[in-house]
Amino acid sequence: MLKDTLIAATHAGAEQILRFFNQEFKISNKEGVNNLVTEADHAAEKAIIEVIHGRFPSHQVLGEESGASKQDSEFKWIVDPIDGTVNFAHGIPLNCVSIAIEENGKIIMGAVYNPHLKEFFFAEKGKGAFLNDKPIHVSEQRDILRSCLVTGFPYTYINMPNGPLEIFERFIRKGIPVRRLGSAAIDLCWVAAGRFDGFYEHKLEPWDSAAGYLIVEEAGGKVTDHFGNEFSVYQHKVLATNGHIHEDLVSVINNKKEL
Ligand code: IPD
Ligand code: CA
Ligand code: CA
Repeated sequence: MLKDTLIAATHAGAEQILRFFNQEFKISNKEGVNNLVTEADHAAEKAIIEVIHGRFPSHQVLGEESGASKQDSEFKWIVDPIDGTVNFAHGIPLNCVSIAIEENGKIIMGAVYNPHLKEFFFAEKGKGAFLNDKPIHVSEQRDILRSCLVTGFPYTYINMPNGPLEIFERFIRKGIPVRRLGSAAIDLCWVAAGRFDGFYEHKLEPWDSAAGYLIVEEAGGKVTDHFGNEFSVYQHKVLATNGHIHEDLVSVINNKKEL
């Protein structure tokens, strides 16, 4: 029932993405000039919550656009109605719905769906990760110099030691490919699928990382903060890898090792 509802809610959100994609829609700004929210984000979140509360009225929902609902429940649905809104607003087909279910503080299920590529990623704790119902696994790459990485940058630059640009520079100076797709949830799923060997970002929110985190772990990867500590979706600095290059990435991010 939980799984069916998660799938139905994800598709309900995706239907709204496709309805508005490349059409006219209202755009407004959140904090930061390029931190956009569109009519489609609100419509998708509303459709998702209707499905969840239609079947589980007592479950809590934490949605990017509507905040936390009032319910006091052991289940919390963490919802990003469109991850990759800037891509969405520019007609770039790299955006998705991302929904995770937390039970008593632990993420137990996650789904990420990019309706443009028709890629549905799903994981349930202890039961593996899947892309369109086929099991997926992280890559086998052990050499950071041969890795293909992905990252994202915050809407408002954070000036700090080992900040986004410093780390990016370290990799780029060594000729390591670092991609920037514009959707953290897709970045994480593509690590899970073995397309990327690692992903890091400095300022993510729970709705960006919760579903992708479980999908990476269930695909055999590792997710921590930037220091290698146990991951929580409520902290912002995410590092996800195939596991093999994890320690090396922690060292480079913290400037403890020359590449
Ligand atoms: C954003 C995307 C982007 C990441 C930003 C997120 P949004 O989410 O995941 O890749 O770099 O930090 O805020 O705003 O498109 O839902
Ligand atoms: Ca997001
Ligand atoms: Ca969003």
